[in-house]
Order: sequence, then C-alpha cells, then structure tokens
Amino acid sequence: MIKEIAFLTNKIKGSHKTIILIGFMGSGKSTLGKELSNILALPFCETDSQVEKNTGISISQIFELKGEDYFRGYEREVLLSIPKSSVISTGGGIVEDYENRQFLKGITNIVIWLDLDWEVILRRIEYTDRPKVVALNPQKLHELWFKRRPLYQECADITYRGNSVAELIDLIGSIF
Ligand code: S3P
Repeated sequence: MIKEIAFLTNKIKGSHKTIILIGFMGSGKSTLGKELSNILALPFCETDSQVEKNTGISISQIFELKGEDYFRGYEREVLLSIPKSSVISTGGGIVEDYENRQFLKGITNIVIWLDLDWEVILRRIEYTDRPKVVALNPQKLHELWFKRRPLYQECADITYRGNSVAELIDLIGSIF
C-alpha cells in the first residue's frame, strides 16, 4: 500500500498535476483534502484561507464589508496562482466564474467533485455562519445547490459521492 501511494505521488509530481476538490458548501472538501494531502505527502492549500491571508480579513467580513463580487475577484486570483503538485480545497462558489471553470478544466488539474445528497449538505451547513447560509433560506440554498451542480459536473474529472480517502485515492490512481 505504502509503495503504491509513493508511486502515485511520484506520478502526480512527475506530471505536475494539481488535485483540486470542488463541491457545494459542506461536501467535505477541506476534510478530505487535508487527508489526501497527508497520505500523498503533497502540500495542501485552501482557497478561502488564502483569500483571508491576502486580504487580512475573514470571508464573512469580506462579504459584509466589500460584497460578493470583491470576494470572487480575490478567489479567482488565488485559484489562478495555486501551486502545482499539491492538493487544493476550493470554496463552493468557485465554479460560478467562467474564467475559473476554464482554468479548472485545464489538463494539469485533476478535479474531484464531491457530490453529496442535499439532505446531507443541509444538515451540515444549516447552522453555520457562512455568508451564503446566513443570507439565504433553505429553499434558496437548495436552488443554489441545484443551479451549481451542472457547473461542478462541467469541471469534474472524477465525481465522488462518499467520504473515504482510500476510495478517492483508488479513483485518482485509476485515471493515470
Ligand atoms: C461560498 C462557499 C464558502 C466560501 C464563501 C462562499 C459559496 O466556502 O468560499 O463563503 O458561495 O458557496 P465553503 O464551500 O468551503 O464553505
């Protein structure tokens, strides 16, 4: 197993691929992304944390003080400059931007869409203070989830509906 993982890591590094996790809020991008990066021994980066670092304020404050468009501008800048041979967890709205979608579909990325059922997503996010959750009621959030699904689909090399890092690693291995 360890040998196989080292082999996969070398393949990823050798091809300068970036593993990018996409999906709606609450789909497990950060958790699975961190686990993946640990097991594959690749650097991990979250676009949201990087935006917070670059702006010096929290995502909630950016939405509140500057608005969503401002946030999306920073988010795009971060995405377009992510390091190769790493694991990236993105914000749920990253696919709303055309330029981001073109970038995600580039051949140096392996894009994994975490496609969870709405009931699971809602349970995970409904009492959080994410700006979109605060601003929208459950029905509007469901509409947003439904509207974004084809956009995630458009960018995805792998669609995964679970939460097992071992299964994900098998799927990544199968596309090399
Ligand atoms: C957003 C998702 C958030 C964050 C911001 C906007 C969205 O990231 O980028 O609050 O529009 O879906 P998570 O998906 O990590 O919660």
